[in-house]
Amino acid sequence: MGLVRQLPRRVVLIGGGVALAAPAIVRAQSHTSATPFTLGVASGCPRPDRVVLWTRLAGGGMGEAPVDVTWEIAEDERFSRIAARGSFRATAAEAHSVHVEAGGLRPARPYWYRFHSGGQTSPVGRTRTAPADTAKPERLRLGVASCAQYEQGWFSAYRHMANEPLDLVAHVGDYIYEMSWGQRHVRKHGTANPTTLQEYRDRYALYKSDPDLQAAHAACPWVVAWDDHEVDNDYTNDRSPLTQDRDFFLRRRAAAYRAWYEHMPVPPSMAPSGPAMRIYDSWRFGDLVDLFLLDDRQYRSHHACAEGKGGRALFTDCAERLDPKRTMLGAEQEAWLRDGLARARGRWTVIAQQTLMAEVDRAAAGATEPVYWMDGWDGYPVGRQRLLDAMAARRGANHVVLGGDVHMYAVADLRAGSGPVIATEFVGTSITSQGPSSERVRTLAAHNPHLKYLRGDKRGYVVIDVMPSSCHAHFEAVDVAADPQTGKRRLASFAVAAGRPGAVPA
Ligand SMILES: [Fe+2]
Repeated sequence: MGLVRQLPRRVVLIGGGVALAAPAIVRAQSHTSATPFTLGVASGCPRPDRVVLWTRLAGGGMGEAPVDVTWEIAEDERFSRIAARGSFRATAAEAHSVHVEAGGLRPARPYWYRFHSGGQTSPVGRTRTAPADTAKPERLRLGVASCAQYEQGWFSAYRHMANEPLDLVAHVGDYIYEMSWGQRHVRKHGTANPTTLQEYRDRYALYKSDPDLQAAHAACPWVVAWDDHEVDNDYTNDRSPLTQDRDFFLRRRAAAYRAWYEHMPVPPSMAPSGPAMRIYDSWRFGDLVDLFLLDDRQYRSHHACAEGKGGRALFTDCAERLDPKRTMLGAEQEAWLRDGLARARGRWTVIAQQTLMAEVDRAAAGATEPVYWMDGWDGYPVGRQRLLDAMAARRGANHVVLGGDVHMYAVADLRAGSGPVIATEFVGTSITSQGPSSERVRTLAAHNPHLKYLRGDKRGYVVIDVMPSSCHAHFEAVDVAADPQTGKRRLASFAVAAGRPGAVPA
């Protein structure tokens, strides 16, 4: 497609900080040779007649004045058949980000888009509209990504995703990391953990300067949800493990959500209001797939069984965990999802959310009592049960659950108790974030024989290939995360047959 070649080369980092351009970067109206499009382009939220187009004029140095940007979307790569065009006034209040809903498009076809400002033209992005609601698509190819800690590896997994023929990418969270952690860093954030809007903007600008991430965005539309690291590690709703000051944390959350909005290909209607922002949504792909994307951070109950304990939310059981009032999604989102599942018409329903849904005993080797990670679904077992019941209520449907967060590939058949299999779960590893040790993975596998596959030593992504009669999951892994030019290979594939839930090796 030539898309990758048109993107700017890896920017030079000066002193480990954000050096997207010199501070006095081009004002878009001044006709200098420097481009304001250093953060790339993106598209997202595809519907049969429209798609969201995104860019942000170079981070920092744009000044306070608004800047006019024109956009165009075409049916061909050379822009000879323009489908729609328009202009957008990028303001300092939104960090000169551009969010456009390009409408009047035709369903189920590729489009190419670009932006112009101050005599400069952006890289070209390729996108794709969703099929018409009444269409009968033969397949949907979906990439699943999560957990891209910038310091722990190059974004090679994103580069390889860009080269897959994907209709859509679902990013299920940890797109940025607010914190430095892990070993063997290949590069540095160079700044402290962000807490203010400007600091979060700078962190996004750093990540967005990566050419492999830009290539993955330019290759196809994305749907995006956050997990915790877009704000603060292991936060729950209005509570942070780092502070007792709820008001301070909500101000931080508001800054983080606003910066997330400014950098994601989501519609202008999604803009946050203070610390609140609705990001969960659903998409229909003809009669083949109903896709639900969930937010399991913003509305969740606080960690169970945590009273008087610190550390990483790994606790033995207690009565609080089983309280039916506990919720991972919040009452409103649960009701929306229950209603959406009941209305779904697709042969497959795909629920993309943040973390492993299957129950996992995380006790150390030799322990006599199970240990649960209260930050995951195991901290919300009754809410999980309600979700599985809502899926089971739609007879004849085929349910697939996708997740990330655990930095391991995992496969599980989801049942309610000892009942029949209700859904099949595939969890991606991480783009770069380091996984658990092989010894830890061995212990997890020994304690949890119901997990059909578990692998934590490889970084990469998952390709979900949905067809009317079957759904395949391919686990794609880069060879060496520390090598910027690394190759990739397919580690394993699983299949689910329509009408027969549960994964089998393929
Ligand atoms: Fe993560």
